[in-house]
Amino acid sequence: MEERARSCLLRSRATLEQDIKASYLMDHMISDGVLTGVEEERVLSKPTRREQAAALLEVLLWKDNRAYISFYNALIRESYGDLASLLHNDLPQLSPEGEKSYSNGISPTVQAILSEGGVPQRPVVFVNRPALLNKVREKLYKLQNAVGWVTVFGMAGSGKSVLAAESVKDHTLIKECFPDGIHWLSVGQCERADLLVRLQSLCFRLEQSQVSEAPLRPPSSLEEAKERLRFLMLRRFPRALLILDDVWDSYTLRAFDIQCRVLLTTRNRSLTDSVSGRYLVPVESGLDEEKALEILALYVNGKLHNLPEQARSIVKECKGSPLVVSLIGALLREFPERWGYYLRQLQKKQFQRIRKSSSYDYEALDQAMDASLQVLKKEHRELYKDLSVLEKDVKVPAKVLSVLWGKELEDVEDVLQEFVNKSLLFRDCNQRPYLYYLHDLQLDFLTEVRCEIRRCSRHFVLSCVE
Ligand SMILES: Nc1ncnc2c1ncn2[C@@H]1O[C@H](COP(=O)(O)OP(=O)(O)OP(=O)(O)O)[C@@H](O)[C@H]1O
Ligand SMILES: [Mg+2]
Repeated sequence: MEERARSCLLRSRATLEQDIKASYLMDHMISDGVLTGVEEERVLSKPTRREQAAALLEVLLWKDNRAYISFYNALIRESYGDLASLLHNDLPQLSPEGEKSYSNGISPTVQAILSEGGVPQRPVVFVNRPALLNKVREKLYKLQNAVGWVTVFGMAGSGKSVLAAESVKDHTLIKECFPDGIHWLSVGQCERADLLVRLQSLCFRLEQSQVSEAPLRPPSSLEEAKERLRFLMLRRFPRALLILDDVWDSYTLRAFDIQCRVLLTTRNRSLTDSVSGRYLVPVESGLDEEKALEILALYVNGKLHNLPEQARSIVKECKGSPLVVSLIGALLREFPERWGYYLRQLQKKQFQRIRKSSSYDYEALDQAMDASLQVLKKEHRELYKDLSVLEKDVKVPAKVLSVLWGKELEDVEDVLQEFVNKSLLFRDCNQRPYLYYLHDLQLDFLTEVRCEIRRCSRHFVLSCVE
């Protein structure tokens, strides 16, 4: 370990010993490969928390730079931000060889940058999507010498947020394009007041890393927050990347239109139409069958070839959606004998029963899908629901929908454009006239909504009769 780093540990030793819980930190250090099981046991054999902390620090002092960085990251992940800041200034630099030796690109230095910027970790079960990942990184490289926007768009649960977080786990990309850091902000559907709170917390986070200055009062209006952020990005983090996750409206977008580098995830492809320097990455396709099976196998800790016969049918019913496969995988992990049961639920389109996911923003699949519908105007929402009459795997021209809806062709095209922009409908541009179709999952969801409406109205009629 570098002298500077060791000296810093020695200086902070008493404070660290007083506060840290060694067992939590060691889990992270073991998974980083900087601490062995034997060392962990030795630390845990000490009778009190404080003695365990002292023992861990003693072990750490004899280790290398990677161990220091891993310890620092563990502090951040376990919410010891104040203690981590004691070590921050003496974080050692790893040699380029040291950095490259991490096969997945996530070296301790990269991890430190991402943890500080609040970039989420991978989901417990994760599969690589190399082609998509490369597309996002290729676009991010366009921001190397110019400010601009990279927009990752696609339907609910297609894996945009996971992809955005994964795309920045790359040492070379950070070094060459975003040496001033990566800053993640979860936006979501938010009102003015919520947006202000999010901006305030981002400003606070960025200002906090400037240790020397006294804290400023939080900005009190959106305009002030925007100015503060513009100033921070321009003066202090000129080559940083801001990741705005899950943005819904242009009003929110404008608050971040401050001439900086942005990676954005959204279901709405037209959101960034009005900004300059914009690059789009569609996330339309689901996972292929093998990748989806891999997710199921990882969830149940099994090998691909040991999966039961229902696995392929389950994957088929999940329509390649990473979200649905993961939801089912998590349920199967808990109830390993329910393969048949969940397959039947999927076939019956009982989406409200499929709810369970730790890191996803919505509690259940139907909520995630419904969120997209709720942002439509009431009239358009009803038109969208009519699309449930479409057949599976059938693509139709606008003319057919003009008959279905009883509207002029031009009006229909406008509405369809809105649906396509919001990732609620897909357009096949290889044919003339253009053909429109729903993702299987959207069709299933609409069928469920229709059944639900029918169930409700039957219930209503019955209760009126009674
Ligand atoms: N590469 C992946 N490997 C394993 N699971 C994944 C992967 N990508 C996504 N998932 C699973 O799908 C879920 C949804 O992914 P994610 O949150 O990225 O979707 P999204 O497109 O951002 O959805 P939304 O539009 O609702 O924000 C994740 O919580 C995770 O469980
Ligand atoms: Mg998302």
